[in-house]
Amino acid sequence: MMTPVILAGGNGVRLWPLSRRARPKQFLALEQDGSLLAATLARLEGLPLAPPIVVCHEAHRFLAAEQLRQAGVEEATLLLEPEGRGTAPAVALAALLAEREGRKGPLLVLPSDHHLGDAAAFREAVADAVRLAERGHLVTFGVVPTRAETGYGYLQAGESLGGEGVAVARFVEKPDARHAAVFLAAGDHYWNSGIFVLRPADVLAALARHAPAILDACRAALADAAADLDFLRPGRDAFLACPADSLDVAVMERTDRAAMVPLAAGWSDIGSWQALWEVLPRDENDNALRGDVLCEASRGLLVHAESRLVATLGVKDLVVVETDDAVLVADRASSQALRGLVASLEAEG
Ligand code: GDD
Ligand code: MG
Repeated sequence: MMTPVILAGGNGVRLWPLSRRARPKQFLALEQDGSLLAATLARLEGLPLAPPIVVCHEAHRFLAAEQLRQAGVEEATLLLEPEGRGTAPAVALAALLAEREGRKGPLLVLPSDHHLGDAAAFREAVADAVRLAERGHLVTFGVVPTRAETGYGYLQAGESLGGEGVAVARFVEKPDARHAAVFLAAGDHYWNSGIFVLRPADVLAALARHAPAILDACRAALADAAADLDFLRPGRDAFLACPADSLDVAVMERTDRAAMVPLAAGWSDIGSWQALWEVLPRDENDNALRGDVLCEASRGLLVHAESRLVATLGVKDLVVVETDDAVLVADRASSQALRGLVASLEAEG
């Protein structure tokens, strides 16, 4: 049986003002009724799974626990980070815990903030990935790239490993624009979806080899962990001393055990307003409208109204997000740059 490991510690700043420190995007209902976290759980239905391990910031423990309960998850462990140290320590903690509990089968590591249109295709790809993981591979899912995106990792497909799987000849995390364009043109590169299937022993061996300081700190933190209810708090000092890194950089770029299964399931990382607009249903003028909204002679908008009527006239390609205490009006295509805007807001306090 596989153990789902749900990474829910990101802060989603590019979706301000809906996504806030107190309630980052994975806990929001951005696409449909349920949150992105709930959607992540829902698309696992039918897979043979052990109770999930959810790794998140301790400040979000009740939000996460409540959403798990609403999603019908009766048993789970919430591993609480005092502060995020990136996905490498988060996965290391989960792998150490799975090993300590003698869990059989690989981990299915899932970001909690993705859109996936075709859950059945996803589950089929997972079955392929499990076969490769059982041969000792660190398996990721590759998405055919459609633009020279610099916010993703890129995988170069290598030799066939049987079935749909291939070895990863090279893994480059977040290349610059020039390299992203080269990878896109090459034809044999895929985007890393950020979803992984790997056995605890294999990822721990890879961490021991490529990022021993992370593994040591996480081992110490888990040895020192305190449990209450479903919450497990790794030792604070040990965890805070852990170097920060992503699994992509700490392990996937360096290992020779990486493999890939292609994923054609309408995948998207809902990382920005632009990305959300792309996956939302839109009207005949290409507007994605939520809440009490009236648009005239307007095109290509994403308008989200939470507490009052929002009306637009004669504008195009904007994002308008109205909440109780803040309103964002932005050029839709520039919505990636929100990170900088939010940083200056925080600096001003
Ligand atoms: N628990 C925990 N702790 N979770 C974290 C942390 C952390 O410190 N940092 C990030 N996460 C969670 C986020 O909430 C998200 O669900 C997931 O881990 C991935 O983190 P992101 O910060 O969204 O990563 P990214 O999008 O920049 O890059 C990753 O995903 C891309 C595809 O979406 C990489 O894997 C790329 O290679 C990949 O292309
Ligand atoms: Mg992401």
